[in-house]
Amino acid sequence: MTHSTKGWLIVFEGIDGTGKSTQIEMLADKLRAEGYEVVATREPTNSVYGRKIRSLYMNRENVSKEEELQLFIDDRKEHVAALLAPSLAEGKIILCDRYYLSTAAYQGANGFDPVDILERNRFAPTPDLALLFDLALDESIRRITASRGDTLNDFEQKESLMAVKKIFDQMEFDYIKKIDASLSINEVHQLVSAAVLPMIEKGEK
Ligand code: TYD
Repeated sequence: MTHSTKGWLIVFEGIDGTGKSTQIEMLADKLRAEGYEVVATREPTNSVYGRKIRSLYMNRENVSKEEELQLFIDDRKEHVAALLAPSLAEGKIILCDRYYLSTAAYQGANGFDPVDILERNRFAPTPDLALLFDLALDESIRRITASRGDTLNDFEQKESLMAVKKIFDQMEFDYIKKIDASLSINEVHQLVSAAVLPMIEKGEK
């Protein structure tokens, strides 16, 4: 895995219900207002693999764990080739909702060794920054069920979310910055901006 030399790859990670997508929108608006070219994207994507993943949500039993892991990896390969690598080469700022740390955490919680998962993701560019949204499990579940009006899908059952959170909590890479997602939307936005803007303005890798 190598860092890009031109653009910026900023990924947003953490368990479900932590407010990543709201923060991506707010940061994208702010960066665009300052004149930066921003690509906001997400995984799973809308590729054939991503669509297959989404269709698995409600009946995960129809696919083996290995097939599920492979789908996330295939989806990412496509995403890197079609969008991420070209956008980085053009010097753009990519804000990506979930990336390979999600695979390490979620499919790790599903029985794979997170280290092996990361090994299978070596084709993917290393993020310049991974904002790891940190939130207590009960609050994350409260937000998913109450505020979104959702029921928990199979990826989001409490037991497995606990295992997912544990793996996220143990991650130690120098590109990870933890964000306290229990704060207000505006406070979290300040934390996110403070992590991103100086890095980009400095312009050094
Ligand atoms: P999510 O971002 O929550 O999409 P949506 O808002 O459409 O529900 O991602 C869907 C689920 O996929 C989420 O619960 C985490 C899971 N996931 C993995 O298990 N592995 C991965 O590699 C990725 C990217 C996501």
